[in-house]
Amino acid sequence: MAGITVVGLGPGSRDYLTEAAEHAINQADILIGGRRHLDMYNHLTVEKYPITADMAPLVDIIEANVAAGKHVVVLASGDPGFYGILSTLKRRLPGLRPEVVPGISSFQLGCAKLGISWEDACLTSCHGRDPAALVAAVNKHAKVITLTDPQNTPPALARALLGGGIGDLSVHVACNLSYNDESLTTTTLKELAAAEQWSSSNCIMVIINEK
Ligand SMILES: C[S@@+](CC[C@H](N)C(=O)[O-])C[C@H]1O[C@@H](n2cnc3c(N)ncnc32)[C@H](O)[C@@H]1O
Repeated sequence: MAGITVVGLGPGSRDYLTEAAEHAINQADILIGGRRHLDMYNHLTVEKYPITADMAPLVDIIEANVAAGKHVVVLASGDPGFYGILSTLKRRLPGLRPEVVPGISSFQLGCAKLGISWEDACLTSCHGRDPAALVAAVNKHAKVITLTDPQNTPPALARALLGGGIGDLSVHVACNLSYNDESLTTTTLKELAAAEQWSSSNCIMVIINEK
């Protein structure tokens, strides 16, 4: 079967990998993904290409292999449609119609572990994005969920929020979800901002702005 499938792997542990994802991966002629994700599939003897900052060579590999009748599977963390590789691929390859296998997103597992519903939440991301948008979202919404990154760590984002005029709100932080070093913290923005060290950048934050 020629074409491309983008597969959501969930937050990390195989416990949260769906059977549909496993099935799609086993159909691959070519596997593309982050190094950590490709390492999970060392046992598969298919061609593998790591995703790097420069997407151009990968775009060429995808186009050439799909044109040659191969089936390309792209591995994505969490759900591919939530601040993931899906939008990048659709932008770079507008003619391609990928099949998408959903995965459990980091924010879904984080909310589940914290016992928090998310149908009323504003979902956003500070992964490679300016925290100014987070400040605007917290000003506007009673519940905001954001992704973090190595620069925009939870303490850095707490400082950005306080610096942006947000008060000392409650905040939940869930890090390394589904891994052995998973952590769940409930605190306030001021306490979080004062943390000098934060061991993980792989976190979601839930900021509660109930009036
Ligand atoms: C590029 S985004 C991808 C999000 C992904 N598509 C999803 O649905 O979770 C990467 C960010 O997701 C969050 N993330 C991914 N895996 C996580 C995990 N296991 N625990 C906590 N946060 C995670 C972190 O904020 C990380 O910086």
